[in-house]
Formats: sequence, C-alpha cells, structure tokens
Amino acid sequence: MPLAAPIDELLMQRLVQAARAARVRAYAPYSGFLVGAALLDEQGQIHAGCNIENAAYPQGQCAEASALAHLVMAGGSRVCAAVVVGVADAPVTPCGGCRQKLREFAADDAPIWVADLAHIRARYTLGELLPASFGPTHLRGNTAP
Ligand code: THU
Repeated sequence: MPLAAPIDELLMQRLVQAARAARVRAYAPYSGFLVGAALLDEQGQIHAGCNIENAAYPQGQCAEASALAHLVMAGGSRVCAAVVVGVADAPVTPCGGCRQKLREFAADDAPIWVADLAHIRARYTLGELLPASFGPTHLRGNTAP
C-alpha cells in the first residue's frame, strides 16, 4: 500500500526529530558514538531506534537495525523514508550493512537524510547509497538447487 500523504519537508523534519530523540537513548559505552535513526512506514507511522553496543563487540546493533525491528514489530512492511542522526566531522551516513538492511524494505528512490543535532547535513536516496543492489526480487522464482 503506497503512502497516503506525500513525503514533504515537514514530515521529514518530524523524522529528524524522532531520530534525534532516539539518539539520546543510545547504549554506546564502548565507542561513545551515539546514533539515532527514524523510519517512515507505508502507513505514515514513524519508528525510531538507537545503537545498542555489547561487551562482545560484534554483537552490537546499529540504530537503523533497532528502528527496523520496531517498524516490523508494529506491523510496518515498507521503509518510505529514513533519517540517521549522529555527530561527527563528516555526515554520519548509514553503514554498508544497514544500507542493505534498509534495502530489504525500501525502494531505490526512498529518501535517506543524514543529520546532526542542528542541521540536515546530506540528502540521499537509497539507490544513491546502495546502487545496483541485491534484493528480494533476485530470489523470486529461484528454483536452483
Ligand atoms: N552505528 C550505527 O548505529 N549506525 C551506522 O550506520 C553507523 C554506525 C553505530 C555502531 C556503533 O555502535 C557505533 O555507531 C560506532 O561504530
């Protein structure tokens, strides 16, 4: 089901605020690097998440993955837009693994904005961040042994 309302600047700003609020919840005692993410689903609902690190370092989870878990648990099935918030010299873009995780639920033209606490620092689409990507359609009709 497509989104009823267009994704306008105001809606994107609401996502930015949700991602900033989520970032405050980050559990990042090892890196000290707090990240928040917010996703807009196909029903116009916003789902946010933060990074959750672990003493066994590889078990840590990115903010985007946390937000995706919230979206799926709330009954969402599409990511229509995403915002990632972090504070660094360079804009905090989603890591490679998170680009692929988002791709599972998002179209190439889904806006992905990157913000810090004060500004929108970059505006991308998923297709720009993850061109020529592998996705669910590649597995459709797969009959290979
Ligand atoms: N991190 C995210 O939450 N999202 C990203 O897309 C980039 C990295 C987190 C993982 C880790 O807790 C911290 O930032 C430092 O890498």
